[in-house]
Parts: sequence; C-alpha cells; structure tokens
Amino acid sequence: MPAAGRAWLTSLYDPVMALTMREATWRPRVIESALIDGEAPTLLDIGSGTGTMLIDLAREAPVAQPIGVDGDSQVIHRASVKAAASGVKLDLRLGRAQELPVPDSSVDVVTMSLLLHHLSDADKLTALREAHRVLRAGGKLLILDWGKPHNALFRALFLLVQALDGADTTRANVEGKVPGIAESAGFGDLRLLDRWRTIWGSLELIAATR
Ligand SMILES: C[S@@+](CC[C@H](N)C(=O)[O-])C[C@H]1O[C@@H](n2cnc3c(N)ncnc32)[C@H](O)[C@@H]1O
Repeated sequence: MPAAGRAWLTSLYDPVMALTMREATWRPRVIESALIDGEAPTLLDIGSGTGTMLIDLAREAPVAQPIGVDGDSQVIHRASVKAAASGVKLDLRLGRAQELPVPDSSVDVVTMSLLLHHLSDADKLTALREAHRVLRAGGKLLILDWGKPHNALFRALFLLVQALDGADTTRANVEGKVPGIAESAGFGDLRLLDRWRTIWGSLELIAATR
C-alpha cells in the first residue's frame, strides 16, 4: 500500500502532490481545523504517508504530540527522514488503519487525508470504527478525501484516479457515501467544512465528533 499506489512512485509522491493537488490550500485548512484554541492536541494521522501533514502541524503548534500510523514501512522511513531534516519529532508507527497500534480513548484529534479511497467499503467502516475507538469522548475526526464531484467535468477527471486506485475502493467517495459510513462507525455531528477542485477531481474536508 505505497503512498502513490505503486512502490516505484513513492519518490514522486511529494512533488506530484505539491504540483497537482492544491495541497497548499487544503493542508492549512485541515491543520487549522485540528487545532483547539490555537494549541495542537494529541493528534493521530492515519495513513500518514510521507509525513507532510504531521510536519506542517508540528511546525504550526510545537506543543503537539503528533503520532502517525501507516501500513508501508518505506513511507514511514521517508517520513522519519523528512521530519529529522525539518527538526520535527514525530511518533511514527507501522500499522494498519483497520487495527491501530494505539490505545483506546488516547487522542484528541484523528486526521485521515487521502486514505479512505484506498480501502474497500468494509475496511473503511473498520478503519473508522478504529478511529472512533482511539478518540476520547468529544474528540474530533477530520477526513480529507475525494468526494462528490462538483459537476460532470470533475466526475470525468476522477476517472483517472479510479483507473489508478481502483473503481471499487473509490466508489463510496464519488457517490458521497463516506459521511454515512462514518455515522455507521459511531460518529456524529458530520459537517462538510470545505471542497476543492483539482485536476484529478473534487476533494472535500469532512469533520465529525466522537
Ligand atoms: C495517498 S497516501 C496519503 C498520505 C498522506 N496522508 C497525505 O496526505 O499525503 C495514502 C497512504 O495511506 C497508506 N495506507 C493505505 N492503506 C492503509 C491501511 N490499510 N493502513 C494504514 N495505512 C494505509 C499508504 O501507505 C499511504 O501512505
């Protein structure tokens, strides 16, 4: 489960994200939504990839306890090298979203950026149940992922992502079913915080409360 879907693409992941995914727009929005009264809480980033979200967060709020879990040892290594180069200390753990190596009720905020569209619907539900388990009562979930297209053009653009990442795992995203799966996992107070047009399709940021 490499960050870019193919191991040999992992080294291209960061430059492609920066160039094509408008991440300079949505990453700050995710981070701003994760902070509580300007301070970073204990935060778990699931599917943390090359660590960009956690590094940006730790720079924004140095008191944060940033934990990352990813299923790919190669991207964990890349994230740790990037964090060291940035002077940021991250707690990076190898593990699956469906079976998090994190105790019950131990984190304030969970972020998942561009993770869920890699998982089957059953695994989306299991991963969201795991997020629910590790969050404290009242804790916040932030999901940044592909969502309902803005219009037919953005639906057509998304066909390339579906060809690369799989039609089955991306269907619930494009049909706008991710919030419903989060509700089935026990989350409430589902809110669409923002949407972005990218050359690959429509991204959305969803918040929910445990
Ligand atoms: C598209 S990348 C997103 C990385 C990062 N969140 C970001 O915003 O740049 C998806 C990441 O999810 C990880 N991943 C995919 N399936 C996973 C699973 N079941 N458990 C844990 N990590 C997983 C991949 O290894 C990859 O690093």
